[in-house]
Amino acid sequence: MSMFTWDDTLSVNIEEIDAQHQKLVELINELHDAMLQGHANQVIGVVIAELTKYTQSHFSSEERLMKAHGYPGLRQHKKEHDQLLAQVNELNYRSQAGYTVVSLVVLNFLKNWLVNHIQGTDMQYKPFLNDKGIT
Ligand code: FEO
Repeated sequence: MSMFTWDDTLSVNIEEIDAQHQKLVELINELHDAMLQGHANQVIGVVIAELTKYTQSHFSSEERLMKAHGYPGLRQHKKEHDQLLAQVNELNYRSQAGYTVVSLVVLNFLKNWLVNHIQGTDMQYKPFLNDKGIT
């Protein structure tokens, strides 16, 4: 059973970005399932590495979009991305170094940062970009 379900409260009404957010939700669910099924750290490490890579790529494409349309909140938004990425990179580093990193505490942390960031910070660009015809 998934720990995390996508719903419309997470939609920024931009197809490309919603698809990327959905992929992040899937990866967190995958991590949750791998943990529940008692997979070895190595398997879990592969999912964490993918989550890290995908987070980086999502943040970059969101920043490119904001920059291309002159979004005034870009600087502050990027600062938050950099902080979140540093936390995920740290998790990835610990996982690749062989530490057991996945627990419900870590999964809840990942879920909460994603939900809080999308519903808080990402939602702030929604009207700005949607008004420019970006959907
Ligand atoms: Fe969707 Fe700002 O990350």
